[in-house]
Amino acid sequence: MSDVTAWRDFFVATDAAGLATLARATELAIGSLDQPAGGPRSNRTPAQLRAGVRSLDVCPLEGVALDTVLDELGAAVWAHGVRPLDVACVAHLHPPSVVPAVVTELTIASSNQSMDSWDQAPAATEVELHLMDFLGARIGFSKRASGVMTSGGTASNVLGLTLARSWAASKIGVDVLKTGLPDEARTWRILASDQAHFSVQRAAAQLGLGRDAVVTIATDSSGAMNIGALDAALEGLDADGLSPIALCATAGTTDLGAIDPLEAIAQRARSVGAWLHVDAAVAGAFIMSEILRPRLRGLSLADSVTIDFHKLWWQPFNASALVVSDVERFDLLRVRSNYLDRGDELEGMVNLVGRSLDTSRRFDAAKVVASLRTIGQRAFAAMLEHLVELNVYAAQSIDARNDLELVAPASTVSCVFDAPGYDADDLRRVQQELLAEGAMVLGRTEIHGRAALKFTFMNPLATRDDVDQLLTVVAGRLPAR
Ligand SMILES: Cc1ncc(COP(=O)(O)O)c(C=O)c1O
Repeated sequence: MSDVTAWRDFFVATDAAGLATLARATELAIGSLDQPAGGPRSNRTPAQLRAGVRSLDVCPLEGVALDTVLDELGAAVWAHGVRPLDVACVAHLHPPSVVPAVVTELTIASSNQSMDSWDQAPAATEVELHLMDFLGARIGFSKRASGVMTSGGTASNVLGLTLARSWAASKIGVDVLKTGLPDEARTWRILASDQAHFSVQRAAAQLGLGRDAVVTIATDSSGAMNIGALDAALEGLDADGLSPIALCATAGTTDLGAIDPLEAIAQRARSVGAWLHVDAAVAGAFIMSEILRPRLRGLSLADSVTIDFHKLWWQPFNASALVVSDVERFDLLRVRSNYLDRGDELEGMVNLVGRSLDTSRRFDAAKVVASLRTIGQRAFAAMLEHLVELNVYAAQSIDARNDLELVAPASTVSCVFDAPGYDADDLRRVQQELLAEGAMVLGRTEIHGRAALKFTFMNPLATRDDVDQLLTVVAGRLPAR
């Protein structure tokens, strides 16, 4: 017989002794984060990082004390990770985490609810549903709206477009999940702008429609969908006997932060009988600000909306949601199973597996609710508005300089620019040198074929002085001419 008591401390128990063990371990974990600061990342090379990590035996025969393991992680990993709270960490839509979310992560992991079925997450299911109702109301949907948490914007977009495809099939009497794609699917098209996230293409591929089923609509100089081009594309599809099953608008494009004209797109979607999915992964947080919310006019006309909490809601990965205007739309997705979602549950016991492409799933809604309740509407909106203002300031500062040039007007939180007289190779060198030295994690992209650098402002603690400093550093890196 094994001595099971020897294993007790491996597990989280919620009695006094168990919680004391967890508290001690948590303190050690926090200590491992205490590494010498200095810029957005250390200057270690990939080879040095590899050597540090590979020196750790993943599973030694006899376990190592937790304090040692955490110290090793601190030295090999946390000391050399990127620091999203550093003002020079401006490459991506990569937020610093807020404290209430991080500590709630500890409780999420400790209690380990699984969101697929009510009998694995009774109160947690109610929390997720409550958060979805909140989002639905903020979006401006009716009370019929609801949603589900997903692992990210990509997953939310795939889920939204999966529903769109099932809906298109259901309109011709086909249960696509059961019988697969009907012959008509060869004519189905999804329309999205040339700045839409690549997950739209990925969704089309996964849905069996193929990437070629995505019709790309030209954007204007700000990166927003051009409605004239959308109209022309719809007319072209009609003339060719093709069916637009979904229009996918973006509220906050990845590089330029552009918000498509949602109201006009919604009107087109309605007139051609297409599903409207809005990828609001970036600007969806604007529903929290009375000042910024008008930029999303038309969002409430969508059939499905992607919200990404691990962007401008400052949540640690992963946290996203797909919100639908009518909860019944999830019926298109439901697959019954003998052990999980049997359909004969007692009144009120909702199994969220019926809405999700996942089965077992984390209780990420808890950290979002804990964060929103702790921060409150006023501070949340003010932090967002500050970032948008900071971005405008950066754009104005670039406009006022001769050595840098804006690639597009400022919108949301990203500022894309290049340097007159310098080519893509020069810009690449600037970005790569700053990254290698650990001086700045700077964005680099290409807009309509034009190579560019990018600041993405995700850190509400950054100031105008920080922006001035970032510009000085970048401009100072351009090779002398
Ligand atoms: C507009 C947009 N949609 C979707 C995504 C994908 O989000 P995630 O990385 O959470 O999957 C991104 C990522 O940056 C994005 O910018």
